[in-house]
Formats: sequence, C-alpha cells, structure tokens
Amino acid sequence: MRDVEKRDALILGIETSCDETAVSLVRGGRKILADEIVSSAPEHIRFGGVVPEIASRIHTDAILDATRRAFAAAGIRAEDLDAVAVTYGAGLLGALLVGVSFAKAYAYAIGKPLVAVNHIRGHIAAAYLANEELRPPFMTLLASGGHTAIIHVKSYEEHEVLGSTLDDAVGEAFDKVARVLGLPYPGGPSVERLAREGKNTVSLPRMLKGAGGYDFSYSGLKTAVINFVHTAAQKGEDFGKADLACSFQSAALNVLADKLFRAARERGVNTVTAGGGVAANGYLRELLTERAEREKKTLILPEKRYCTDNACMIAAEGYIQYLKGNFADLMLNAKASIPLKNALNNLH
Ligand code: KG4
Ligand code: ZN
Repeated sequence: MRDVEKRDALILGIETSCDETAVSLVRGGRKILADEIVSSAPEHIRFGGVVPEIASRIHTDAILDATRRAFAAAGIRAEDLDAVAVTYGAGLLGALLVGVSFAKAYAYAIGKPLVAVNHIRGHIAAAYLANEELRPPFMTLLASGGHTAIIHVKSYEEHEVLGSTLDDAVGEAFDKVARVLGLPYPGGPSVERLAREGKNTVSLPRMLKGAGGYDFSYSGLKTAVINFVHTAAQKGEDFGKADLACSFQSAALNVLADKLFRAARERGVNTVTAGGGVAANGYLRELLTERAEREKKTLILPEKRYCTDNACMIAAEGYIQYLKGNFADLMLNAKASIPLKNALNNLH
C-alpha cells in the first residue's frame, strides 16, 4: 500500500477493559467517524464498584450491536477497514477477553490485520484526537483509576516516565473518598459535583508537594480524609461534606498541575497534554488552563468523553502501531496487569 493511503488508514477500535463497551471508527488516527459507548455503570451502582462478572456479561451482550451501530453511523462497510485495534490490557481479565475474542474473530473474518493496544498508551493517544496538529514531543499527565504519572512523550515510540505515584492512583483516591463520604459510584464525578458546593477550608496533607522529583503519593491524603470523617462521626459532630470534598479535590489536583508544568519547564517542552478519567475533572481542567496561560505553554486537552474510557483513543493508538506494522496474531491474549514501563514501551 502506498504511504499516502496508509496515512488515511481506517481503524476499528474496540475497548472493553472495564465497564464500558466501546467501539469506534477512526480515520488517519485522528478523524472520528463513529463513537459508540454502552456503559454498564448503572448496573454496578448498588454494589458501590464494578462487578467484573456483570461487566463481562454486558460486554458480551452489547458488543455486536455497538459495532453494527458504529458502521451504520459512519456509512462504512467492513471491507473498507484497514485494521482492527483492540485493548488487550490492562484491565479486568474477563472483560478484556470479550473484546479481544471479538476483535480476533472480526479481523480473521475480514482478512485484515489485528493490532493489540495497551490501554494506557490509548489514554495518552487521546490527545491526538483533540488536535490534528499535535506531534511529539509533549509532556503528558496520565491520571486514571490505576495510574498517576508524568510522561515525556519524546516521539510516537519513546515515552519516558519522569514520575509516578508511590502508592494509590489519584482516581483511586477519588473513588475511596467518595465511598467514605457516602457518594455514589463512580466516585470521581460524584466528588467533583459535591466539591462545587463547598469551600477549601479543611487543612489536609499535600504529600510530596515540595519534593524536587515528579513522584506522587495519595495514600496519606486519602487516610487523612477517612480519619477526618471517622473522628467527626465518633464525636457526633456534623461536618461540611462539601467543604471536605472541595478541600480533598484541591489537595489532590493542585499537585498534579504543579509537577506537570514544572516538568515541562525543566525539560524545555512547549506542549502539555493530559489523559485518563481524572482529566475529565472540571477543576483540574481549569487549573491546567490557567497554568498554561501563565507559563505560555500550549495545552491540548481531550474532550471529557475522550479522557474516560472510550474506543476512539484505542483506534488512535492502534493507528500508530498500524503504521509501524506492529500486528498481533490470533494467539493474542488479554492481560490483567502490565507494569507502566512495559506498557509505555509497548511490551506485551
Ligand atoms: O481512565 P478511566 O476512565 O479508567 C481507568 O483506566 O482507570 O479512569 C477512571 C477513574 C476513576 O477512578 C474515576 O473516579 C476517575 O477516573 N474520574 C474522575 C472524574 N471522572 C472520572 N475523577 C475526578 N473527577 C472526575 N470528573
Ligand atoms: Zn482507562
């Protein structure tokens, strides 16, 4: 195939790593032609978190229809595809297996290459969907339920981790704080909503705030919130939940903006991006926007729906691997966990 045609490659993206069954059609790694998402979140609410077995069953029920809807929305036939890209890890094993099995069968049936996509690289690639001109190098903040890291994207290939969390991920801290405040799953958006009604009045620790490196730590902050709630309950005191949510959110997110922009400054990188579910948080987006203006950096933020799990980011990253000719075979298996460094180096 000529290079110019390759650059226009049409990729079917499939993502089933958690509670979203997502299917996309993306041209040239950037142009979204279809974007289907079926969320099983309502089924998990009464359990206070994702129940893997329920998530897997809903993926199985939803994936074929979601794919048909995607093709119908884009007005495209399966023969028009150049490759099928699927999240193979990390995530819930049973949930991943639904997408991986479906993608293998689909690619085999239409005789097109299969591309195995790492979910974390997908979150980073979401920024390419936000701006057609975005090219490495850039500095990115990865802030999801499983990871918190500052990554220097030096090229489409080379991603250097400058710092990461030493314990909990920031999204995990939001989820735990939501639970202790009695807020519904999913925790991040619930805390954000409540925080909007409160003030930053509770003094909480800002772990590693002043430290020179780029690492993070969230377990101390999380424990401080839990202790605050328990102490108030023991004393029978009524405390302002909204103020606590606001104070937690401020402590959790300011440090991300500080370190991200310090990394960009110290490495002489002019473009900054963010990805992962926590990057959908409106307060964080405001902080990053203000900081970019002040520091004269170009900020590229994916739309909120492309920060949380979706299949467009999988097709965007699948496209990068497709151009490299990095194809998987039918022995591809799902992987529940992949260390961050391996994930970024695309080591399966
Ligand atoms: O990227 P994501 O959808 O899935 C993972 O790959 O982990 O991220 C999910 C995480 C959850 O911890 C969720 O609470 C958090 O992102 N999150 C948020 C918001 N939306 C999702 N955290 C804070 N504010 C939000 N608006
Ligand atoms: Zn994710």
